[in-house]
Amino acid sequence: MGPHRIVNIEDLRQAARRAVPRVVFDYIDGGADAEITMRENVRAFESVTFRPRCAVRTPQCDLHTSIAGIPMAMPLMLAPVGSSRMLYPRGEEVAAAAAGAAGVPYILSTFSGCRLEDVKAATSGPALLQLYLVGDRAVSISMMERARAAGYTALVVTIDTAVAGMRERDFRNGSKELITRQIGPMLPFVPQFLARPRWLVRFLRDGGMMKFPNVVLPDTGPMAYADVGASLEKSVVTWADFGWIREAWRGPFLIKGIHTADDARRAVDAGASGIVVSNHGGRQLDGVAATLRMLPEVVDAVGSQTEVLIDGGVRRGSDIVKALCLGARAVLAGRAYAYGLAAAGHAGVARTIDILRTDMIRTMKLLGCASVKELNGGFVDSR
Ligand SMILES: Cc1cc2nc3c(=O)[nH]c(=O)nc-3n(C[C@H](O)[C@H](O)[C@H](O)COP(=O)(O)O)c2cc1C
Repeated sequence: MGPHRIVNIEDLRQAARRAVPRVVFDYIDGGADAEITMRENVRAFESVTFRPRCAVRTPQCDLHTSIAGIPMAMPLMLAPVGSSRMLYPRGEEVAAAAAGAAGVPYILSTFSGCRLEDVKAATSGPALLQLYLVGDRAVSISMMERARAAGYTALVVTIDTAVAGMRERDFRNGSKELITRQIGPMLPFVPQFLARPRWLVRFLRDGGMMKFPNVVLPDTGPMAYADVGASLEKSVVTWADFGWIREAWRGPFLIKGIHTADDARRAVDAGASGIVVSNHGGRQLDGVAATLRMLPEVVDAVGSQTEVLIDGGVRRGSDIVKALCLGARAVLAGRAYAYGLAAAGHAGVARTIDILRTDMIRTMKLLGCASVKELNGGFVDSR
């Protein structure tokens, strides 16, 4: 992960492509349907231009901030990425450890391959738990109780996953067949694993195809991979659920998957400590607007009542600066660190965070701004 070979997130993306089988790389890299929203998320950042204040000395840049009272070394959290253990052995623990070392909070997906207690123990920093309602209410409540006991600081409830999005690449790469564990249907898709023997050996040593140890079903125990789709569809979260979720959790929670001002207001009414403007990185409903384009509408509607975060398309530290200028308090990054994790485990995630941090500092110095708290709309032109 030397700074000469890995200069930016695209370098990490290429390193990930070389390290893991196609089905795993495309699981990270792909989006829903025609991937229009996924591309638009990135393009929206590219289309915002800066308006620097030159001839200003900024020897120090203060990146510190907080979300829901959680202190952060920079305005970045690692987004929930399901099945991270497939990217790298004990992937969730490894990513959380790298985040903690950098003072960046880690959000653990409901669909983690590692036990939530082990993930919390692996990091010196704050951890949040992303919640999907899977199984019945008791299953979610027991997950929340475990998370509270383990020291998770906040909950992140994702609301944009009524059904799993149609990721065409996964379909073509045999994701469905590969989780059947039946040799016949799997066979045509096996060569992609043989092409990455290093990954394969590590994957098998780490226990092979994992289950989800934090989703413990009363009859069958930890949920199996093959049951995820149906289970998500059966237990869609609705606004009415926030009553019992709030009661069961009794702590701060963020709502992730806000696309519009209307839903942002509902989230505030539901008692959210913060909201994440997110379209799941373009992995759910294709054809929705880029998150950065929706951010000003949401900030106008609820920015004075709650903390607004954004994700989708963050590939450079300057993207984080742009999001903050347009009213976000912090961002989540998904693919940017998932590439790093797939490419090189701890070192890869650490490199991701380092790239984003040094980018941010350089950008702010060039803008003539000494603190994230001083970034505002005057530094950008988003027309
Ligand atoms: C491989 C992968 C798995 C994901 N799994 C989850 C998940 O389990 N729960 C969730 O709320 N979001 C999930 N997301 C969405 C991310 O949390 C985040 O919203 C998205 O990655 C942001 O876009 P970006 O990848 O462009 O940064 C996943 C994203 C990726 C790339």
